Amino acid sequence: QLKVVAINENLDLVHQNHVLFDSELPEFRTQGGVHVQADKLTVTSPVLMWVKALDLILDKMKDAGFDFSSVRALSGSGQQHGSVYWKKGAGQVLKQLDPGRPLGNVLWMDSSTSEQCSSLESAVGGAQNLTNITGSRAYERFTGNQIAKIQQSNPEKYSETERISLVSSFGASLFRGDYAAVDYSDGSGMNLMDIFSKKWAQPCLEATAPHLEAKLGAPLVSTAVLGEVSSYYVTRYGFSPDCKVVAFTGDNPGSLAGMRLREGDIAVSLGTSDTVFLWIKEPRPTIEGHVFCNPVDSDSYMALICYKNGSFTRERIRNERAGGSWDTFSRALNATPVGNDGNLGIYFDTLEITPSAVGVYRVNEQDQTVEGFPGEVEIRALVEGQFLAKRVHAEKLGYKIMPGTQILATGGASSNTDILQVLSDVFNAPVYTIDVANSACLGCAYRAAHGLVAGRGVPFSEVVCNAPEPKLAVKPTLGASKVGLIRFLKKSGRVSLQLVSVQGW
Ligand SMILES: *[C@@H]1O[C@H](CO)[C@@H](O)[C@H](O)[C@H]1NC(C)=O
Ligand SMILES: *[C@@H]1O[C@H](CO)[C@@H](O)[C@H](O)[C@H]1NC(C)=O
Ligand SMILES: *[C@@H]1O[C@H](CO)[C@@H](O)[C@H](O)[C@H]1NC(C)=O
Repeated sequence: QLKVVAINENLDLVHQNHVLFDSELPEFRTQGGVHVQADKLTVTSPVLMWVKALDLILDKMKDAGFDFSSVRALSGSGQQHGSVYWKKGAGQVLKQLDPGRPLGNVLWMDSSTSEQCSSLESAVGGAQNLTNITGSRAYERFTGNQIAKIQQSNPEKYSETERISLVSSFGASLFRGDYAAVDYSDGSGMNLMDIFSKKWAQPCLEATAPHLEAKLGAPLVSTAVLGEVSSYYVTRYGFSPDCKVVAFTGDNPGSLAGMRLREGDIAVSLGTSDTVFLWIKEPRPTIEGHVFCNPVDSDSYMALICYKNGSFTRERIRNERAGGSWDTFSRALNATPVGNDGNLGIYFDTLEITPSAVGVYRVNEQDQTVEGFPGEVEIRALVEGQFLAKRVHAEKLGYKIMPGTQILATGGASSNTDILQVLSDVFNAPVYTIDVANSACLGCAYRAAHGLVAGRGVPFSEVVCNAPEPKLAVKPTLGASKVGLIRFLKKSGRVSLQLVSVQGW
């Protein structure tokens, strides 16, 4: 879907609207907004549909009486990694903005590029080298590898391409009536940008496709004002000619802004897969996470760590050890002490991605491998183990818990206070729950507001300081830091030595 939110100077939400691609633009015959190609690996989305959705959402806003002339600035976010290919001459069309014309084709969520990934990694000396430059090892969905595939399978179309945008910079280009730069933060999801120098990495460009730099344009700081909204929107919808367009970014960076993460904070999404968002000052990229330039502070970074099976494993253990009841599961957590008397477990039901390992491992307080735990111990071992892993991986990437660190919890399992208590104890920080239904969208409204003053050095945190506070869920158990930390240091070293197959834990 395409969503919009508008906020006023007090950050109150004054308008929201959306367009559902499948049902409101049925002529494109998408499912979930996409077309899955015959190979089942390639996923595309018709760009014309996005253009029409933009028309439609602005018309809906107009019908609802929205006053476009009062908009001071706008920004946006788009699904990360997707790319849009502008044909030669499209830049000219864009300057006259004829939204009724198809402009290109788009690819994302694509997992058909494994060859391109391995050749990119070997061109720069391996996965860790690529990670040290771009913040991530080669991923099939990352834009550079998509571009390589398009160039190799369709060299003519590639050479007719005058510009390549991300989904985000495509949106910004429509509003600007001109090609918009890729911002640093979304640009970090391409396997092409050096996240430290914030320039395209020459060895990556060379390993990806010819003449690529000219097609990408230079990347730009994420808080930048790109310019004014194009006259098309002024005439058609009554935008003020002074309305600023602030660089668009990816959906993950947009969410970081929407959650108002600050240095030292960590956001943990406890869903089907578990995801961890971090604000990092001095990152040490590892192949088991992603480091992106920070979307709201150009001196900082953000990191993302994904765990494939989060709730899936919690539900399995609940079913096996708590008779399928979350109440019983919670009682087990309450009946066992922080640190679980030294019992620790790692539960990878299927091949995990962080780290790449599979299997169930249990060690007792004497660091002996054991075959099983009593039910209550097992339940705590699972939950502590999942959160300890998040802390270990976060700290490996350069994350530091600070005084004032907040943990923001989202996702299904964040409604379980007893699970959140373990999270709080492992990180020794209070846990807050937040509603993230709109976070990427709202984040970009905040970013638009920030863009107006960012040039004067006003930090993002100052602009959003009056936004609604997250809700405090739990505080760390008294004394948890000692138990947690000592156990954590002792066990994390031990476990990785003992269980050599769980490398990187
Ligand atoms: C990979 O990185 C190492 C360490 O930074 C460096 O010595 C080596 O030259 C790099 N490999 C290539 C092929 O660039
Ligand atoms: C957990 O992993 C298994 C195996 O990959 C998979 O079938 C299952 O869908 C995963 N669960 C989720 C929620 O991803
Ligand atoms: C990657 O960077 C780290 C420092 O963050 C360094 O210790 C390591 O040697 C580098 N590895 C390669 C292969 O360049």
